Amino acid sequence: MKIAMVGSGYVGLVSGACFADFGHDVVCIDKDDSKIEALRNGVMPIYEPGLDALVGTNVKAGRLSFSTDLAEGIRGASAIFIAVGTPSRRGDGHADLTFVHAVAKEIAETLENDAVIVTKSTVPVGTGDQVERILADANLSVRTAVVSNPEFLREGAAIGDFKRPDRIVIGCEDEFGREVMNEVYRPLYLNQSPILFTARRSAELIKYAANAFLATKITFINEMADLCEKVGADVQDVARGIGLDNRIGPKFLHAGPGYGGSCFPKDTLALLKTAEDYESPTRIVEAVVKVNDSRKRAMGRKVLDALGGADEARGKKVALLGLTFKPNTDDMRDSPAIAVAQTLTDAGVKVAAYDPEGMEQARPLMPEVEMVSGPYEAIEGADAVAIVTEWDAFRALDLKRVKELANAPVLVDLRNIYTPDIVREAGFTYESIGRA
Ligand code: UDX
Repeated sequence: MKIAMVGSGYVGLVSGACFADFGHDVVCIDKDDSKIEALRNGVMPIYEPGLDALVGTNVKAGRLSFSTDLAEGIRGASAIFIAVGTPSRRGDGHADLTFVHAVAKEIAETLENDAVIVTKSTVPVGTGDQVERILADANLSVRTAVVSNPEFLREGAAIGDFKRPDRIVIGCEDEFGREVMNEVYRPLYLNQSPILFTARRSAELIKYAANAFLATKITFINEMADLCEKVGADVQDVARGIGLDNRIGPKFLHAGPGYGGSCFPKDTLALLKTAEDYESPTRIVEAVVKVNDSRKRAMGRKVLDALGGADEARGKKVALLGLTFKPNTDDMRDSPAIAVAQTLTDAGVKVAAYDPEGMEQARPLMPEVEMVSGPYEAIEGADAVAIVTEWDAFRALDLKRVKELANAPVLVDLRNIYTPDIVREAGFTYESIGRA
């Protein structure tokens, strides 16, 4: 089966490469010449573990190719995925559908064969109807169906998530759409991944509801962590204790500096806008967004406190370890590290930072921060070390060396990757999240 993937960003590229790996014939399309050129030369535009090998193998096998020509790329494709960006619209937080509409229009103008148009981009409820109208306006003589097939890929684990998903959600309104989508996902039947067929609007909402729920779960445990610090409890135990209840589940209960990334912040805001448009407020999600925003700045203040308070902190030096919104990605979007660094530099603190993959992206976002080549370089002469992202490389720091290099043995662990007793025994003042 031929599949066209319009948009070769994170989602399009990972999905396209995985479909090709399952044996489909895939063309990834993008308007950006330099990106397509780079991909043809085996250079990935993003950091995602395993992606370059996956792309390389499938290009070599002749199942995956890249093009800037949409009309040519979609020719003969039974399924055309729209996987372009839907960023937050500046000013109002609505999802910006400019790219989705433009692609739908271009498909409508050039389509020559029967095809199912699939929105994979995260789009607000009702976008499928708009795409359908755009196609209808073109009075096509070929058969089309518009389907919603949201993605649930986590950055850093996207290939595994694609190949062994918890579920595949397909929102479609007719038999043609269902038939083609069954064929698209047939290779995954072996993995026994549940495929859930729903109405298109339900599928569109499932994506937002899932992300908002996960953001709520994280925010809930983060507030419990704050309470733990006040009452003398340990949030790790609280998370384990509630997570063993099957109805709650153990995942996404890791307290930290607040969620970031390309999805949760943008999708929660877009959901609020949809709720507002339909006059059906989602107050819980409103609170989650507010609490998470203020938490990121509060984490900066936590580091200031470890330096003895804002007045004492002026002129001191902090080593920031980890800048990306989570490990195994180079993505800095809405990373808590941005707010932490800002709070520190605003208070007159010198900041030296290191991240295994995100330095290049981080640099323009935190111009006052000195970027250094390794964790120990950052730690040299620091009055406090703050772990902001839980990269594996920071899990086994040589504490003796840290103590020798640092100006003062203070460790602020915003991801709870160290055991308090061990760090304290090594002579450190240790601050973490939700562990009194
Ligand atoms: C998320 C969803 O998981 C995915 O299904 C969706 O398609 C896109 O958004 P991603 O943004 O890649 O994926 O990251 P994820 O691993 O879910 O983490 C999101 C944020 O939550 C990160 O900042 C992470 O550090 C934070 N987080 C996650 C916590 O603070 N605690 C947790 O227990 C889990």
